[in-house]
Amino acid sequence: MKEKLYETLEYINSKINKTPKIGLILGSGLGFLADSVEDKIEISYDEIPNFPYSTAPGHEGKLVFGRLSGKDVVVLKGRFHLYEGWSSETIKFVIYTLKKLGIEKLLITNAAGAINKTYKPGDIILVKDIINFQFRNPLRGPNEDEFGPRFPDMSKIYDEEWVEKIKKEFPELKEGVYLAVIGPSYETPAEIRAFRKFGADLVGMSTVPEIIAAQHCGISCLVFSCATNMAAGVLDQPLSHLEVMEVANKVKQEFSTLILKSLEVL
Ligand code: 6GU
Repeated sequence: MKEKLYETLEYINSKINKTPKIGLILGSGLGFLADSVEDKIEISYDEIPNFPYSTAPGHEGKLVFGRLSGKDVVVLKGRFHLYEGWSSETIKFVIYTLKKLGIEKLLITNAAGAINKTYKPGDIILVKDIINFQFRNPLRGPNEDEFGPRFPDMSKIYDEEWVEKIKKEFPELKEGVYLAVIGPSYETPAEIRAFRKFGADLVGMSTVPEIIAAQHCGISCLVFSCATNMAAGVLDQPLSHLEVMEVANKVKQEFSTLILKSLEVL
């Protein structure tokens, strides 16, 4: 992996002139934020050696370097999902690339189904904990000692100081537990009832491998989910990706205000 990583880094470093400390991984419908990055340098995933590429609808694939909210950032416009066929090790490779580029903090967004019945479609939730129902771990295999320990602690998956600052600005922000499945099929009502008993508030198909790899290598995370729809069985209606995209689109403004402010308070 190391040689591949150096090749990847060499390519990216040859294209950029500043090294950000903050990364953003933007999920479904939020890619537009990458467009408001100032002084941007864009690198398409398919031109980066050894890098995966996006195949998911609503996800364009590129790294966008530049300034957002006055901070130097790199935005991953488009992410990698297990349902696309990528392995969790591939997601680890992407996170280690960020680590080696100098990223210290990572803001992650996703679209999720609401299991918690007090949530409404369009709510934005701060993710305080996760449940790995993908049953894959990106750290499986020989430990990369250079990046972190064999058995990383997972008792706090969010950056506490960062969350405190954000909660000062947004005291009403809801919090929840995000459970990740592989997908791509949505869950059945019976699965959602079971997940509710496990303590999950949100369900989605991403983010957990990223958090595990980031936790391993000491990148601290902040995760926001947009509850785009109620999960299966909560309402008597089928789920559609179109609905997910529509709701994500409707809360664009509110979501981007939250993200920009989250960068500003750092
Ligand atoms: Cl209901 N389930 C999953 N797994 N992902 C989602 C979702 C539901 N709604 C948006 N993303």
